[in-house]
Amino acid sequence: MANMIENLKSIKEKALAEILMISDKKTLNEIKVKYLGKQGELTAILRGMRDVASEDRPKVGALVNEVRSAIEGQISAKEEKFAEEELAHALASQKVDITEPSKFVKRGAIHAIPMITDKLIDICVDMGFTVVDGPEVETDYYNFEAMNIPKNHPSRDMQDSFYVTENILLRTQTSAVQSRELETRKPPFKIISPGKTYRNDSDSTHSPVFHQCEGLVVDENVSMADLKIMLAEMMKRLYGQGTQVRFRPSFFPFTEPSIEVDVSCPNCHGEGCKTCKGTGFLEILGAGVVNPRVLEIAGIDSKKYTGFAFGMGIERTSMVLNSIPDLRTMFKNDIRFLNQLK
Ligand code: DAH
Repeated sequence: MANMIENLKSIKEKALAEILMISDKKTLNEIKVKYLGKQGELTAILRGMRDVASEDRPKVGALVNEVRSAIEGQISAKEEKFAEEELAHALASQKVDITEPSKFVKRGAIHAIPMITDKLIDICVDMGFTVVDGPEVETDYYNFEAMNIPKNHPSRDMQDSFYVTENILLRTQTSAVQSRELETRKPPFKIISPGKTYRNDSDSTHSPVFHQCEGLVVDENVSMADLKIMLAEMMKRLYGQGTQVRFRPSFFPFTEPSIEVDVSCPNCHGEGCKTCKGTGFLEILGAGVVNPRVLEIAGIDSKKYTGFAFGMGIERTSMVLNSIPDLRTMFKNDIRFLNQLK
């Protein structure tokens, strides 16, 4: 037993002296294993407790515990010291100067097309419209036939179409959504449908891909008067309160009577300038009272219900608002140009 006590005391002395000298984490771990690990020196002594006479065991046991906790205490003090040093080092080397001025970051912005679309949606939703969507690859039936444009109708020539098959095409007008909504909805309803449209056309005022927003209201006793009041208000909200609105008779197969709507030129406010070719006004959308035939094709009783509709070009709206002479500049994505659009 005396031998064992001696042994323990010398382990303690040796361990504490070694720990004191350690200056890195790795060696500290090795020392930990060396004394306290499964194969460690102190563990070996514990195993030898079997051979200690039972009356001596408490004394030896107490000593083993004392030595163990002395070594553990010293090791954890060292560990703490290393952690503190590591933290101090990290704080010193990874210093962030929060007063340093930030680097110049270029901000993105919303493109004119979604900007106008969102503005229009806001105005219409405020007026009680529901926003709906429709497919861009459309059937000839919904795009033309159901809108009272039968095969060989001359107005098809105005909408040079991209056909996918004989009866499927890229929609030429968001009016196709009207056909679908009329077929599935029960009046009364008020919908708008913004989206992409396609025509085989390309010059300074036409792009093969462009955007429209369709509007449709069906109810009892809906008239041209309601349409005019609503459009006038809508144009004022879109182009500014001082805007004058002008209605001209027109023709569309799906409306009867049909109108075209002009707004006073935002550039010269009606005085006459280059943008409006001296007329003071710019044509902005087509509209009209829904042709009863269109209602009947969709299975709606045209004696009970009437409706009005309008279709508006989004690019055209932006061109008018910003006096842009060439539509194609909108798709060139020159940030300097796009940033100026309202
Ligand atoms: N779909 C027509 C076009 O693309 C625009 C239009 C005119 C839509 C009159 C309408 C409308 O809903 O009533 O030229």
